[in-house]
Amino acid sequence: MNFRPTDEQNMVKDMVVRFVNEEIKPIAAELDSTHRHPGEICRKLGEMGLMGVAVPVEYNGAGMDNVTYVMALIEISRGCASCGVIMSVNNSLYGYPIKTFGTEEQKKKFLAPVAGGEVEGCYALTEADAGSDAASLRCRAELKGDKYIVNGVKKFITSGNVAQYCVLAATEDPSKGYKGILNLIVDLKNTPGFAIGTIEEKMGIKASGTAELIFEDAEVPAENLLGNPGEGFKQMMMGLDAGRIGIGAQACGIGRAALEDSLGYAKERSQFGKSISSFQAIQWKLADMATELDAAEMLLLKAAWLEDNGYDFEKESAMAKMYASDVAMKAAVEGVQIFGGYGYCTDYPAERHMRDAKICQIYEGTNEIQRVVIARKLLGMR
Ligand code: CAA
Repeated sequence: MNFRPTDEQNMVKDMVVRFVNEEIKPIAAELDSTHRHPGEICRKLGEMGLMGVAVPVEYNGAGMDNVTYVMALIEISRGCASCGVIMSVNNSLYGYPIKTFGTEEQKKKFLAPVAGGEVEGCYALTEADAGSDAASLRCRAELKGDKYIVNGVKKFITSGNVAQYCVLAATEDPSKGYKGILNLIVDLKNTPGFAIGTIEEKMGIKASGTAELIFEDAEVPAENLLGNPGEGFKQMMMGLDAGRIGIGAQACGIGRAALEDSLGYAKERSQFGKSISSFQAIQWKLADMATELDAAEMLLLKAAWLEDNGYDFEKESAMAKMYASDVAMKAAVEGVQIFGGYGYCTDYPAERHMRDAKICQIYEGTNEIQRVVIARKLLGMR
């Protein structure tokens, strides 16, 4: 077993660390307080190949692997959790299904601009009454001639407020259950009948817009169907398997930020006449944070490696997402504790890390659903 990254992976990581320290960390607090979409950062991430890390170069991606994607996304999320989730959605939830199931024309038209970082993509699955139970979605897509007529409302869609393109999950016929589900690529800026609804006020990841998408007799060309009708649910599940590696990496990056800040603060803060880093109560917290985050990173890199090498990675991506988000949340809470009263105030980023970490236990499948996915695989139920 070789734990040493390749020269290319190290080069990318060094480039991303520099970019994060120089251009993302200095504006992270401002992005959090203004809730502004970090468009300028997204364009630069595109120029660096980070909006389509594992997308082939002919579709404007970097043509690298998912291990590199994880390494880069941990760093980006260490700088800003909102930038991290936008990057994750472009690469995974939007990019993966088009890369995997799209036609040549679909890849050129819809994957290339997002992988190249010119525009954002989003993935619209969740509805008010279809969250964990994804197969119960009700957004309707009826084929009429050479168009699908789409009616329905999608909820909690990451980047839905800014995205140019969307992979939309809809049903041809709800009575068919999961077999009626299909995925359509929608040009959100050029589809009459589409409107952006409520933009949510959230606890964290405030610079990442979370929007309601409303479709009322919206016309989508039939040629924008991904694969075949009836394949949509399995495409979606496979996309989520890939996406969960991204969310795990986002979580790990947030946890790393909490650890990094805590280490710095513990060394500079004095009580009882000495640095608080000399107290075992603080040392043990730091040791646990570092150990658990390293373990999470190993799970993430393993899941990414399995994906890169063509193995089944459904269980491993669920394990990595679940574990990384649980330990990131724990690290962020301990970070606030180490900062004490200052940790509870907005002068320091500790409270932001805690607010940002929480969503990673919820989206792209709650951690309860990840346990269902893992247990089903262990028990041979799928
Ligand atoms: N890969 C391929 N096929 C899969 C699969 C996978 N990972 N998982 C299931 N399938 C197949 C099954 O084999 C089955 O097919 P067959 O009948 O041919 O065997 C079919 O899909 C239906 O599977 P299930 O019966 O297991 O489906 P289910 O209704 O019980 O649902 C679930 C399973 C795991 C609970 C699923 O609904 C799920 O993952 N729910 C969570 C949804 C989710 O993650 N939402 C996140 C929204 S996106 C988001 O959050 C983005 C963001 O903001 C950043």
